[in-house]
Amino acid sequence: MTSHPVVIVGGGLAGLRAAIAAADSGVEAAVFSQVYPVRSHSGAAQGGINAPLGNAEKGRHDSWERQALDTVKGSDYLADQDAVEVLCKEAAGDVYQLEHWGVPFSRTLEGRIAQRPFGGADFPRTCYAADKTGRYLLHTLYEQSVKRRIKIYPEWAALTLVTDGDACQGVIVYHLPSGRLEAVAAGSVVFGTGGCGQVYARSTNSLINTGGGMAMAYHAGVPLEDMEFVQFHPTTLVGTNILITEAGRGEGGYLLNAGGERFMKEYAAEAMELAPRDIVARAIATEIDEGRGFEDSYILLDLRHLGREMIIERLPEIRNHSIYFAGVDPVEKPIPVQPGQHYSMGGIDCNIDGETELKGFFAAGECACVSVHGANRLGGNSLLETVLFGRRAGVRAVEHARGATTSANPTLLEKKKDELSEKLGSLLAGKGQEDPSAIRNEMKNTMFEEVGIFRRRDEMKQALGKLSGLRERYAWLRPVKSHRAYNLDLLRAYELAGMLDLAEITAMGALAREESRGSHFRVDFPSRDDGSWLRHTIARKGLAGPELSYEKVTVTRWPPQARKY
Ligand code: FUM
Repeated sequence: MTSHPVVIVGGGLAGLRAAIAAADSGVEAAVFSQVYPVRSHSGAAQGGINAPLGNAEKGRHDSWERQALDTVKGSDYLADQDAVEVLCKEAAGDVYQLEHWGVPFSRTLEGRIAQRPFGGADFPRTCYAADKTGRYLLHTLYEQSVKRRIKIYPEWAALTLVTDGDACQGVIVYHLPSGRLEAVAAGSVVFGTGGCGQVYARSTNSLINTGGGMAMAYHAGVPLEDMEFVQFHPTTLVGTNILITEAGRGEGGYLLNAGGERFMKEYAAEAMELAPRDIVARAIATEIDEGRGFEDSYILLDLRHLGREMIIERLPEIRNHSIYFAGVDPVEKPIPVQPGQHYSMGGIDCNIDGETELKGFFAAGECACVSVHGANRLGGNSLLETVLFGRRAGVRAVEHARGATTSANPTLLEKKKDELSEKLGSLLAGKGQEDPSAIRNEMKNTMFEEVGIFRRRDEMKQALGKLSGLRERYAWLRPVKSHRAYNLDLLRAYELAGMLDLAEITAMGALAREESRGSHFRVDFPSRDDGSWLRHTIARKGLAGPELSYEKVTVTRWPPQARKY
């Protein structure tokens, strides 16, 4: 058994930031990451990180209050406003700290951090490093981790949280290169395990975004919050669904339908292409569904008028992606794009310090639901939440570990490890013929088609029926491959059970919520209904499946209004 005062699971931005906070508090933190940290999905974030840096424009100054109002309105009033206040008040401090640590932000002519307009924001507030912001942040935090000699365990996947009553004891981890299981005792455990985009077809998320952290928390009895709110990014590259950053529109790009029209004027006359993502994604889907798209599947993002120089300076990554993956150079031709799953607004229910119901267990980043995004996240607030709430969770995890009165129970940890080993053994032995990848693909397509951008009661009921059929088939998997080194067949088969749970929770929450709010659009209930539904969905693991309950939304100073752009 290994032991560390603070164990972080996930080597992306939230995890590394939590580890740095722990190290700076003088406590040893260890990071377990399924991939080498600089390959974490945080590195795929392109457009930028939001912070009100007090800049002036047209006689106005940006402020935390402006960012907070934009965030609350963007969330369709489902975000908890006390948490949003923390996010926006602390944002500038975190961004300046990143700058001082060496993030090579793009600059204004005066040498200040450059900021670009992003969807749903009334000020150019998104600080950026060309269109590779996530990658630069990730490399910088990794450097800071190395500088502090933080212990990193790369290619170790956490598979189970170990609990004793209402307290967390540690995790069981799986060493991918050798196939060995190890019990890790911890004073505190922080999850920065990312999102669950792979539950859906057509996702911008990398293959590691299977929602493993959310599923582990749920199985350990920790509730998940607002899982029905799934963000579809308006512009993903046709064919691969690689992200084509909102920065393309922030810098002035147009969306065009097959008739060559800038159709956003019909959906958000003022904000146009820079309306929040839920609105732009629905607009694109409507254009395609009503026959005004190309080949019934995409529309165009036109950047040509920005000019070669600007595209190469500010949008080099999406230019490369378009050239390599779609054969289109945006300097010369518009990019074919379509909406794709991008982000989960829901996640592990926690507070502004990452604390969950389970003592000693914390969450930050996309796997967590604080909740600052409510029903729809604004672009640029995700990188911000990773570093800001990662930092706060790290600090609180240290306090908890220092104050812990009981120590980990090695017998319990070893027992859990043996149980897990048996479970993996049963997957290796397999008693049926079912192919896990076929089940996984059916789940993904079902979720995209039937619990997607436009939702209908009959389709969601059908989806739930299909998911229950897939779960039955999961009990009859074929034996998975038995090699020890890098057995991804085994890991993916193991994770699939959790993914089916997350899919079911999402579909159940969406079926129950009889209103439209943010990313959740019910064709049969097209209006927002604050009287009945200004509340969070809480999903707990029950004996016969997920059990839903509801919690009140915290409103501090921005009462719900009609959302106009
Ligand atoms: O479009 C983008 O660059 C994505 C940003 C985000 O999800 O925050």
